Amino acid sequence: MSEIKALGYLGFSISDPKGWRDYAENILGVSITDDDNGDMLIRIDSYAWRIRLTNAEHDNLDYVGWEVSDQRDLESLKARLTAEGVDFEVGSEELAKARQVKELIVFSDPDGTRCEAFYGPLQMTNKPFVSPRGFRFVTGEQGLGHIVLISKDHVAQEAFYTQLLGFKVSDYINTEVIPGKPLNISFLRCNGRHHSLALAPVPIPAKIAHIMLQVDDIDDVGRAMDAAEKAGVHFSFTLGRHSNDEMLSFYTMSPSGFDVEFGWGAIEVDDDSWHVKVHHVNSAWGHKFQRPPRK
Ligand SMILES: [Fe+2]
Repeated sequence: MSEIKALGYLGFSISDPKGWRDYAENILGVSITDDDNGDMLIRIDSYAWRIRLTNAEHDNLDYVGWEVSDQRDLESLKARLTAEGVDFEVGSEELAKARQVKELIVFSDPDGTRCEAFYGPLQMTNKPFVSPRGFRFVTGEQGLGHIVLISKDHVAQEAFYTQLLGFKVSDYINTEVIPGKPLNISFLRCNGRHHSLALAPVPIPAKIAHIMLQVDDIDDVGRAMDAAEKAGVHFSFTLGRHSNDEMLSFYTMSPSGFDVEFGWGAIEVDDDSWHVKVHHVNSAWGHKFQRPPRK
């Protein structure tokens, strides 16, 4: 049973708003709306926002918003969290207003990442999303994209998202994404997107490895690459094609230090025919890791 339908929104604290504005608009081709309180709201589709960037001293992943269909599913999720002894809070009216959703609840995963489950996101049909680069993003039922969390307690994290929140395992990659550092990454889905969430047990303090945005035209991957090269942004992984979701993508380092994967062409998973797989390589080709420049 899974009430969660998609990755709905993400919230970050950021220390370099100017860097983010340039990176977001010129490389990722997303649009930015400036909120009254100074936050930057990133749009990629009809949703009022998908990523909220709040100015702060330190960069941080503040929350991950998971979308459920309606009030009934939110109630059903609340009932299961209660039955399993997971504390949650009902989001105040003020918080729902800030998130521009009808209702939400707030809880933590075993690693302490703040999760929000919501329904009723505001849609802006009167102000259609216009990409400054002319890009179109693959969202809809597949949600905003995917997020890869650095798991501290990997077993507990996977159990929480699968057994409690109802995500399904798509596959595992056991590999050395970074040479000399073997990893067992779990890829979890809650809709046709191969994974909305992946858990990577990398022994580093960061909470997040990367987020992914998907465009519907392969040439836009090339155009974004050209813009990233021109801007002198660090490429964390070169262009490549992933072994499991078959995404053709490249990764650049955002001004917050985590990567953004920019991709095209991923497979969609059909629940009836899919079976769990294991891969020993991260990519069919490419995706060469490049160490960040020393500061
Ligand atoms: Fe990814």
